[in-house]
Amino acid sequence: MFDLTGRTILVTGGSRGIGRAIALELGAAGARVGVHYRERRESAEEVVARLHDRGVEAKAFAADVTEPDQVVRLLEAVGAWSGRLEGLVTSAGIYRGPTVDEVDAEEWQKVIRTDLEGSFWTVRSALPWLRKGDRPAVVTLSSILGAHAAIGGAAYQMAKAAIEQMTRALSLELAPGTRVNSVAPGFVRTDINRAGHEDPVFSAKVARATPLGRWGEPEDIAPAVRFLLSREADWVTGLVLGIDGGLPLR
Ligand SMILES: NC(=O)c1ccc[n+]([C@@H]2O[C@H](COP(=O)([O-])OP(=O)(O)OC[C@H]3O[C@@H](n4cnc5c(N)ncnc54)[C@H](OP(=O)(O)O)[C@@H]3O)[C@@H](O)[C@H]2O)c1
Repeated sequence: MFDLTGRTILVTGGSRGIGRAIALELGAAGARVGVHYRERRESAEEVVARLHDRGVEAKAFAADVTEPDQVVRLLEAVGAWSGRLEGLVTSAGIYRGPTVDEVDAEEWQKVIRTDLEGSFWTVRSALPWLRKGDRPAVVTLSSILGAHAAIGGAAYQMAKAAIEQMTRALSLELAPGTRVNSVAPGFVRTDINRAGHEDPVFSAKVARATPLGRWGEPEDIAPAVRFLLSREADWVTGLVLGIDGGLPLR
């Protein structure tokens, strides 16, 4: 089930956190994996080395997704390496949590350019390579904050809400050739929210609020992405799949 043998998949933000777990999971499922990063080359190379140790073909690629020219060059480099893509996962992202009173224009734009525009231009630039692939699929990363509100971080929440609509719009535009789905995680312990999960009071509050009683780990998210990229999901498109320990139920 959910075998990805022979499929080439690029994971943006594959150097750390959820993207790292996804890259390792896809490699374990048989995929050839492009591991994208922005600046932490050693983290991306560590993921590539772990994949190589397991006999998986993998390569690290750098780009700042806030720069469309760099995204174009990223996909050219990936295409030159692989010749085609069967999958793309857009996990590169940042979080900033200022309130509406605190936020400044630079911070606002950085979030929108990374989390929303970065994903859009990555998908756009990948299309020629996805169209050469066998039954290709895209998975975007939304968040529980794409559909549920919180105080602080409006730009992040807006970007994730837009990612969900982008997923639906592109799933329609690219059907029937390319499927497009999204995964919306709840609170997952990574660098993006280190201050939160290292704060015992906030950490316990999140665990209490989550019906399944704990924070998620990156490895809780990766299998859902593997499923959405697999042939078993051949009739699934435009879906936003919450992987969140049941948090929205309350
Ligand atoms: N963790 C959660 O609780 C949670 C919940 C819901 C949704 N998400 C979403 O899941 C995705 C992954 O988050 P994470 O928790 O795994 O974060 P993370 O551990 O902080 O990793 C972020 C990744 O994004 C890359 N990145 C950041 N800015 C970039 C830029 N401008 N250009 C290119 N790459 C960039 C980083 O590359 P470098 O390593 O080179 O810096 C890194 O690989 C994000 O879209 C996030 O919004 C996370």
